Amino acid sequence: MSEAKVKVVEDLPGVGPAIAEKLRDAGYDTLEAIGTQAPGTLSDATGIGKESCSKFIAEARKAANIGSFLTGTELMEKRATVGKLTTGAEAFNELLGGGVETQSITEFYGQYGSGKTQFVLQLAVNTLLPVEQGGLGGEVAIIDTENTFRPERIISMSKALDLDPDEVLSKIHVGRAYNSHQQMLMVEKVSEIAKERPIKMLAVDSLTGAFRAEYIGRGTLADRQGKINAHMTELARFGDLNNAAVVVTNQVSSNPAAFFGDPTKPIGGNIVGHTSKFRVYLRRGKAGKRVCRLVDSPHLPENEALVSITEDGIRDG
Ligand code: GTP
Ligand code: MG
Repeated sequence: MSEAKVKVVEDLPGVGPAIAEKLRDAGYDTLEAIGTQAPGTLSDATGIGKESCSKFIAEARKAANIGSFLTGTELMEKRATVGKLTTGAEAFNELLGGGVETQSITEFYGQYGSGKTQFVLQLAVNTLLPVEQGGLGGEVAIIDTENTFRPERIISMSKALDLDPDEVLSKIHVGRAYNSHQQMLMVEKVSEIAKERPIKMLAVDSLTGAFRAEYIGRGTLADRQGKINAHMTELARFGDLNNAAVVVTNQVSSNPAAFFGDPTKPIGGNIVGHTSKFRVYLRRGKAGKRVCRLVDSPHLPENEALVSITEDGIRDG
């Protein structure tokens, strides 16, 4: 089989319908998702032998052009197109180097009530603002896995910014996902919407909730991580192709009975961490304020900003 013809998973040499199904079932339904994987992880997640997985990965890489080089000039040009989306709080924008970046995944993690959903809603409204006002002048897609999207909040936040609430609501596309499988499929759906509408922000609230509920026990961990990884790869790709900000929320593991593990650790561990370029840990501060901590960013110092969640939305603390 000629490698030039490899376009979808089924085209990979050695992949028949049965293997393709195993790959797809584990969430590896694109060449990118396979090509960015390590053989052991792919093997664990799909039950396919490690040697075969190595071959599939190598072929997928070639076909999807993964690992090819760009010149510094090309990278500079790409970097110049990165947009910065205001969070509504100046101190926090500064912490992020100007705001939430397009072409990257930004993760908000923290306990229940820490404000993750409020950030998603605020960033959604702000995306509609023109670029001169810190927005992205575009529309929004939200994959809502916990049924926490609240139009009332969008209305309050819009009014506070002198935006027409009806217009704002008409430009926020909300997809309710009832399980992790639907959640993953919805990224494709959003890609379709993005062909017609200028989607400049895609949020997944929550990224890990459904996975956490569905994959219980140690034996299923590799499978879960494989799927989360594939999902994140698709999200990153969406951000890249559409010059959109990608925002995901993540809870922390808070099992008080667990002697091992840090209760302030985000779910999904390294898999989520490696793909999120910006990770923000939210926690409650004094007098209803929230402390936003930027965690392991490659080019920004680890630091904190204080914000308030008000009727009008997120503001400086
Ligand atoms: P989980 O999804 O349960 O993990 O929580 P979360 O991190 O998404 O928390 P969420 O963003 O839902 O934050 C809820 C908190 O935001 C509430 O406890 C309030 O403190 C605050 N909040 C929400 N709406 C309003 C509002 O209209 N006015 C004010 N002042 N605060 C609000
Ligand atoms: Mg929430």
